[in-house]
Amino acid sequence: MANPNLQLHDDGRLRHFLSVEGLSKQILTDILDTAESFTSVTDRSIKKVPILRGKTVANLFFEASTRTRATFELAAQRLSADILSLDIKTSSAVKGESLLDTLHNLEAMQIDMFVIRHQDSGSAHFFASHVHPGVSVLNAGDGQHAHPTQAMLDMFTIRRHKQQFEGLSVAIVGDIKHSRVARSQIHALNILNTGQVRVIAPPTLLPEHCETLGVQVYHDFDEGIRDVDVVIMLRLQKERMTGALLPSEKEYFRQYGLTAERIKLAKPDAIIMHPGPANRGIEIESSVMDGKQSVILQQVTFGIAVRMAVMSMIASQPGLDG
Ligand code: CP
Repeated sequence: MANPNLQLHDDGRLRHFLSVEGLSKQILTDILDTAESFTSVTDRSIKKVPILRGKTVANLFFEASTRTRATFELAAQRLSADILSLDIKTSSAVKGESLLDTLHNLEAMQIDMFVIRHQDSGSAHFFASHVHPGVSVLNAGDGQHAHPTQAMLDMFTIRRHKQQFEGLSVAIVGDIKHSRVARSQIHALNILNTGQVRVIAPPTLLPEHCETLGVQVYHDFDEGIRDVDVVIMLRLQKERMTGALLPSEKEYFRQYGLTAERIKLAKPDAIIMHPGPANRGIEIESSVMDGKQSVILQQVTFGIAVRMAVMSMIASQPGLDG
């Protein structure tokens, strides 16, 4: 677990954003409310505010990304920051430079915020433990551990459609075991007092002692999806699987794929979410992904406002803000 104290200044303001775990309901709600105010900026013809003018944000993606990398970059631009997006494949990391040396060299260029995605769980926390005072780290996904801004944009999407978390039933379906997104979503949903958080997966794709995370576990999709308000589908993280955890993709889709028939078991106004990247025909039927109940592309759009919110809260000065 990330040390929550590392994420916060002594006065409770965000210093880094490493993990949802350990943060208060008030901070999560502040992120959602601040993001709400930024959606109007993203709808304007001139989509800029000067909140990060004069600041430099470095995007360090050691793993592949489309949505997170692009929306962090757009969010920083819309806050008027200077952006450095390092191409890791052509950086000195491939010549064996350590993560810490890469960090210190970039710090020498007066970077104010690092956005980091790395294959190792704990890497964002490691970075945050070593940066100079005044420098912040935002976790864009570390191994199987956490993806906190994804969870917050998912919470934003749920709140937009369902207004509140109390009384809601949310089902997270698929490869929970390897999913940093699922872990962060479960923490966020519980901190925000969601009525019921269900996880639906075969036993081989669940972490050990999953119930201790504050979820109800289902192995039968049809049972678990019944009357839920929100269905969150997850990708099979084949790159993180060691050994055969599934009989076949065809069998997985038969048992755990979201189809037009299956979604009828949820509430009629249930929304369908997916953090992406999605594999059509493996965890979700193509027509369902593009269907009326799907809010998958809205999640991507909201990601910009939510990432603007987190960066602006981190940049806020004591005594200068509302
Ligand atoms: N949801 C998500 O993290 O997508 P990317 O891997 O494309 O950033």
